[in-house]
Amino acid sequence: MTLFEAAKAARENAYAPYSNFKVGAAVRTDAGEVFTGCNVENVAYPEGTCAEAGALAAMAVAGGRKVVEVLVIADSSDPIPPCGGCRQKLAEFASGDVPVTLADLHGPRTKTTVAALLPGAFTTHHLEDRDV
Ligand code: THU
Repeated sequence: MTLFEAAKAARENAYAPYSNFKVGAAVRTDAGEVFTGCNVENVAYPEGTCAEAGALAAMAVAGGRKVVEVLVIADSSDPIPPCGGCRQKLAEFASGDVPVTLADLHGPRTKTTVAALLPGAFTTHHLEDRDV
């Protein structure tokens, strides 16, 4: 199964009764495993979670720690990029050169990278580089 097919299937299970905007995400690890997520909304709106967060959580549960490829899918004529918070979450497990593909329901549309999505990322370097 391709990353696109995996993310598309995950999107089908999105729980998005408030926005009616279903999103799917898939990540591939350095071990070649694929993990998927969908957005899961909540009546208390800020408690909802994004598809990317779900995919990363599924990966972490299985012991995965290194993402080598990402794909995000939504039913949008302008393929959606990860939100700001998800860019930071992806940067935790993916190096800057990791490709991020943005897809619509018909297929992959745009390709970018983690570094392009999150220039000037907050990293462990900033935690370490201080006087304590
Ligand atoms: N959403 C995602 O799942 N991923 C993104 O990168 C952008 C937004 C979800 C959150 C919410 O459930 C819906 O899309 C509308 O914002």
